[in-house]
Amino acid sequence: MSRRPFGSTLTSGGTGGGGICNVSSAAAAQSGNGTGFSGGVPNDSAPPKPLPPIGPMMAKADPAAGEADVKKLCSVCHNFTEGGAAKIGPDLYGVVGRDRASAAGFDYSSALKSHPGKWTYEDLNNWLHSPKEFAPGTKMTFVGIDDDKERADVIDYLHTLAATPEPLPK
Ligand code: HEC
Repeated sequence: MSRRPFGSTLTSGGTGGGGICNVSSAAAAQSGNGTGFSGGVPNDSAPPKPLPPIGPMMAKADPAAGEADVKKLCSVCHNFTEGGAAKIGPDLYGVVGRDRASAAGFDYSSALKSHPGKWTYEDLNNWLHSPKEFAPGTKMTFVGIDDDKERADVIDYLHTLAATPEPLPK
C-alpha cells in the first residue's frame, strides 16, 4: 500500500532515473532523520541557479534605489563616507576596485583575507548574493540579496562612491 513516501514527486524530479531513485530518496529521508535538519528549507537539494551576467544587470541599475537599499540593509554595519570609521564592518567608500580586505585598521576574517584580489563588479555580485558562499567563514553575518535588480542597484550606488568611479562593466 504505502510503497512510496508522501513526497516522492519532489525527490524523483532531480535525478530522473528509474529504480535508482528509490535508493537515493530513501537515503535522503534517512539522513534527514539522522541530523534532525528537517524543519528548514524543504527543497535544499536543488542546484543553485547561476547569477545573470553582470554587464546587462548594471546597465539597468539605479543608484538612487541602491542608496535607499544600502541605508536600509547595510548602514547598521558600514559607513560609506571617505575616511569613515569602521562599524561592525569596514568603511566602504571606494570599495569597487579596491583590494579585498584592505581598509586600514579593520580586523578582517581570515576567510576574506585568504581571498586575494580586487573587488570587481563580478565579485561584488557574488559576494552580495551570498557572503558565506563567496567566503565561507566570513564575519559578515548578512544573508545576502537575492533579488538581482536590488543587488545591481546596490553595486551601482557603491560605484558612485569614489573620486574616480570604476568604469561600469560591459
Ligand atoms: C551585520 C553586519 C553587516 C551587514 C548588515 C553588512 N555587512 Fe558588509 N561586512 C561586515 C563585516 C563584519 C565585514 C568584514 C567581513 C570579513 O572580514 O570577513 C564586511 C565586509 C564587507 C565588504 C568587503 C569590504 C572589504 O574591505 O574587503 C563589502 C564589499 C561589504 N561588506 C558590503 C556590504 C553591503 C553592500 C551590505 C548591504 C547590502 C553589507 N555589507 C551589509 C558586516 C556587515
